[in-house]
Amino acid sequence: MEIIRRPRRNRVSSAIRALVEETTLSTNDLIYPIFVQEGKQQQWEIASMPGIYRFSPDRLLFEIEECMNIGIRAICLFPNISEDKKDKIGSEGCNPEGLYPSTIRSIKARFPELCIMTDVALDPYSSDGHDGIFRDGKILNDETVEILGKMALIQAEAGADLIGPSDMMDGRVQHIRQVLDQHGFIDVGIISYTAKYASAFYGPFRDALQSAPKQGDKKTYQMNPANAKEALLEAELDFQEGADILMVKPALAYLDIIYRLKEKFCIPIAAYNVSGEYAMIKGAARLGWLDEQKCMLETLLSIKRAGADIILSYFAKEVALILKH
Ligand code: PBG
Repeated sequence: MEIIRRPRRNRVSSAIRALVEETTLSTNDLIYPIFVQEGKQQQWEIASMPGIYRFSPDRLLFEIEECMNIGIRAICLFPNISEDKKDKIGSEGCNPEGLYPSTIRSIKARFPELCIMTDVALDPYSSDGHDGIFRDGKILNDETVEILGKMALIQAEAGADLIGPSDMMDGRVQHIRQVLDQHGFIDVGIISYTAKYASAFYGPFRDALQSAPKQGDKKTYQMNPANAKEALLEAELDFQEGADILMVKPALAYLDIIYRLKEKFCIPIAAYNVSGEYAMIKGAARLGWLDEQKCMLETLLSIKRAGADIILSYFAKEVALILKH
């Protein structure tokens, strides 16, 4: 055949393939989500997330040390709160002596250079299992935002570096930014869950936190998976309200959204490779149906290629180990 363009020439050897490689995974871009639960010297594996544990605060420090030794420099912390501490307005989320802020303080004391991202939403503390105040079948936006501001402030006071509002209420980024600034936390950033979809892929996470909604679903605040333009609107608002980083969640079924936000905005884009995406690969690998390591790397690479600068992933530790060798 007489053809001039033979794209296969650039795939001839491993060395050439490496030269022309467009996307690279780096441990620098990973945020490792980790779970904390009240207790001493204990850890509990999450059934639907093999290899992921809820740690008692003391054990958590060992886990973080291990992560830092393999190059992970950022974590995202989630609390599992006992049922007796939950109420309608998530009061425990605003308790400065609660599990969450006290864990942040102990992590910061031990590892001041670690970047701690937090989660701002009512669900871990809500007896209704909702991200906002649930009354008469409705989620109250403005009353919720008020509480979110208090939660964010307590987290910042405890030492959080990046505040992550995951609640999808309107106007929360602006309010949180104001509260932080009024109290002098001008350097604490906001990584906003901008395009957070009402997804079935959060199932294993809700097992981990025992935080599934007791009634109804989250469709009046999380986005409809059918919509893309709405994500641009949410992103525009979060940008104007002062978000430092915009996040898309979940990642895999929403790579087009990651791409669109990356094209339109000049601030970093993060993607959350959520619990269900982790469980799918782990589950299939356990059955011997998929090569776990290869699928994990391919998945994270695809998220990066789509435009994510930052990836939150339960695979972070495993990937960091591979990249280190
Ligand atoms: C709740 C929150 C959720 C996740 C992060 N923060 C679940 C939800 O909205 O119900 C999901 C993370 C995951 O699935 O890994 N505000």
